[in-house]
Formats: sequence, structure tokens, C-alpha cells
Amino acid sequence: MLNNDFAKPYPHYVQMAKEVAGMDSITLEGMVQLCMIRPMQSKPFAWDSRQLAALTAYTGVLQKKFIPVGAAVSNPCAARNPCASKNPCGMRNPCATYR
Ligand code: HEM
Repeated sequence: MLNNDFAKPYPHYVQMAKEVAGMDSITLEGMVQLCMIRPMQSKPFAWDSRQLAALTAYTGVLQKKFIPVGAAVSNPCAARNPCASKNPCGMRNPCATYR
């Protein structure tokens, strides 16, 4: 789920990291691992794996395109997207990649 803080450079504060691991800030790589363990209910990737590198790189690309909800944007779809702050599957939302 992408909150507006997603737009900030990593490492940064993520509520789930604080709640689950007591971390005040977390890297993007660490966040991918945390989502694997918690919401995905899976195992973390090996730290030197191609999968972790690929998902981290992909999420980094999404971060560059990410426009915080409520920000002044030229694309009306982004500001009006009701899913952006609520939908845990926001990563799959076509609006997220069409900004
Ligand atoms: C491989 C799949 C996934 C990846 C790569 C991924 C990645 C991320 C990343 C990078 C963030 C940090 C956003 C930020 O900086 O604020 C995040 C946050 C979050 N993810 Fe995932 N995620 C995945 C799957 C999921 C799934 C399936 C769910 C729930 C159904 C989920 C729930 C959340 C929630 C709730 C947060 C926000 C945590 C908070 O702000 O407290 N994630 N995810």
C-alpha cells in the first residue's frame, strides 16, 4: 500500500516497519522483504538474490512516477483515484503506472 510518504527518498519512516520491527526508518529493499514476510505471508528473499534486486528496482521505478494523493498534478486521474490510499493492491492499479 502506498502512502504519500512513499514519495520520500529511502530510508524513511514506514508505519508497518515501526509496528512490526520497531524500526524508525527502513530501506526500499527492507520494505520489499517486510512485505514478503507480512502481507505476502511468504519468506524473505535471499539478500543477494536477483528477485530482491528486481523487485527493489521495480518499486524504485514506481516511486519515481508516484504522485502523492492531493498533490497538484496535471493528470486528473491521479488526484481522483479513490484506490490510491486505501487499496492494498495499489501497486497493481493501472492508474499507478499511467501517471
Ligand atoms: C511483492 C509484493 C510487494 C511489494 C514489492 C511491496 C512493497 C512495498 C513498499 C516498497 C512499501 C513501502 C511504501 C512506503 O515507503 O511508504 C509497502 C508498504 C505497504 N505494503 Fe507492500 N508490497 C508488496 C505486497 C503487499 C501486499 C500483498 C500487501 C497487502 C495486501 C501490502 C501491504 C502494504 C502496506 C499496508 C504498506 C504500508 C505500510 C505502512 O505505511 O504502514 N504489500 N509495500
